[in-house]
Formats: sequence, structure tokens, C-alpha cells
Amino acid sequence: MSAVVALKSGGESPPRHFLELMDFEGATLRRMLDLAAQTKRGAVAGKPLAGKTVALIFEKPSTRTRVSFEVGVTQLGGHAVVLSSRDMQSSRGEEMSDTAKVLSRYVDAIMMRTHDVNRIRELARHATVPVINGLTDISHPCQLMADVLTFEEHRGPIAGQVVAWIGDGNNVAQSFIQAATRFGFTLRLATPAALRPPQALVDWARSQGATIELTEDPVEAVRDARCVVTDAWVSMNDETDDSGAPNRHNLLAPYQVTPELMRHAAADAIFQHCLPAHRGEEVAAEVIDGPQSVVFDEAENRLHAQKGVLLWALGAG
Ligand code: CP
Ligand code: NVA
Repeated sequence: MSAVVALKSGGESPPRHFLELMDFEGATLRRMLDLAAQTKRGAVAGKPLAGKTVALIFEKPSTRTRVSFEVGVTQLGGHAVVLSSRDMQSSRGEEMSDTAKVLSRYVDAIMMRTHDVNRIRELARHATVPVINGLTDISHPCQLMADVLTFEEHRGPIAGQVVAWIGDGNNVAQSFIQAATRFGFTLRLATPAALRPPQALVDWARSQGATIELTEDPVEAVRDARCVVTDAWVSMNDETDDSGAPNRHNLLAPYQVTPELMRHAAADAIFQHCLPAHRGEEVAAEVIDGPQSVVFDEAENRLHAQKGVLLWALGAG
């Protein structure tokens, strides 16, 4: 039976931003995932976003986030306005605070992907409608909502499970640390010493009671893990960072997720990757295209997970 998801009319003050997983209690994130699962199984009646418009701002490239948000909004009965920063006055110096105030007069929610987390924080500070983080240089919370949903569909509750992150301690890795803290799973990260996630984030997670283990040894990290995860060696904007792309390839060469590495994980381990992937770099083709890989379920779940986030942001539950 499908249920009507009631959204609060006229929005809320302060708006329900979705910026970082660490901003929420686990129960609130769980509510969003429940809404996601409900929409996925067709249990949400009608078009809860009818009459609502969502702006989607991209200051970096995207395939999945761009399409899944636009399609998700459409399927929920709303309308999406996709904005490339190239076409916006913000690319010519208009202040983020003015952009926030103007867009808040037109739309009901704003999703933004940006290179600099301070830009989305500024947007959220001045917006009177919910702002959703579609990836920054330090996080990718929508991805983690999809990743947790995907794990649980395949292997049941994630709390108490061991997840192994292999490679760069990048934005997605940092959201994994936040997710481990809020969803209660153990996270082992194997990264080169130079590409570890920020110690302050690890310290925060541990202070919250999370089990976060850091190592430089991929085999140690994946031992008995139910899920092995990796991501690109060179993230967007890293092409020009101090360590440089060639140096990253040298540092990360021992961190490819290979069939041999997967043999050290739990026998029923799944493989996740947020995509886009680079076969022969962070992952061997035999793994990402093999039976343990759930990467396309994971990509599909971006659509469902974000519907849950949107419904919550617009006042459901
Ligand atoms: N995983 C992800 O966010 O993909 P896009 O960069 O294609 O949006
Ligand atoms: N770490 C990658 C994720 C892409 C979805 C990047 O930031 O480029």
C-alpha cells in the first residue's frame, strides 16, 4: 500500500539543509533512507513535489548527480532547473550570498556541487530554502546515502559491519568516515601516508565512538571486510594540486583493488565505487565488472537516496 508523504507547506525556518552527515543524528539519516526505500518500492503515493522547483547548481562536471537529481525531482512531480556555473553571474563575481537570496525567491530547494566547501556553506547561510550538498572538495554525503542503502539491500544492516576503503583519502573517503560514525559501522582506510584523510576528522569520528582504523596496507584493511570501496586516484581539481596527478599515480599504484586483494576480504564481500571509474588504475576490470561488484545498483540508488533526502529537506517526517 502506498502512503502519502506530507510536506510542510511554506518551508521551515531555519531550512533543513543537507550539508554534511556529521550534522545529523543517525536516526534522522535513517528517516531519509526509509523515505528513499519507500519511494524505491513505489510506496509513496502521488507527486509530493508537485508545484515545487529545485535548482541544481554545478561548478564541476557530473553525470550521476546531474541526472539522478533531475530525474528524481521529475518523478516526484516537481521541476528541476539545472544551472552550470559557467552560465551564472557567480562566475563573473556575483556574491554567493546574493545568489542564495535571489534563488530562495524562486525555488523551493537548491542542490550545489562545488569545488570549495566554503561556497556551499555561504550559500546555505544566506538561503531561506534547503541547500543540499552534491559534492565538495571535502565531502559527498548524497553518495554515502546511496552507498549505505546499497550495502543494506545486499547484506542487511550495516551497523557493526566492516567496510574497507582503499586508495585516496579524498572527499568520498571523508564522507565514509562521517557515515561510519552515524551508521555505526567499522571503517578501515588503507591509504598512502601522504593521502590520509584529515586527522581532525578521524579524531572527531573517534570522539563520537566510531571505529576508524588507518593503515597503509590494503591487505590488512580488507581482511574480513564485507564491503571493499575505492574511488578515482585523481579527483576533480586534484589534477592541479600540489602533489600533482603523476605523483598520485605513483603513490597509489600499490592500492589497486584486484581480484587478489578481494580474496582477502570476506567471502561474500561486495565491491562499491561511486563512479566514474578508471579500470586498470584504482580497480581491476575483473573486480568492477565481476560478480562481487554492485556499482550499478549503487549508481541507481543515487536516484532513490536523493529522493529521500529531498523529501526530508522539504519537510517530510
Ligand atoms: N558519483 C558521482 O557523484 O558521479 P558524478 O560525478 O557523475 O555525479
Ligand atoms: N572523488 C571524486 C568523486 C567523483 C564523484 C571526485 O571528487 O572527483
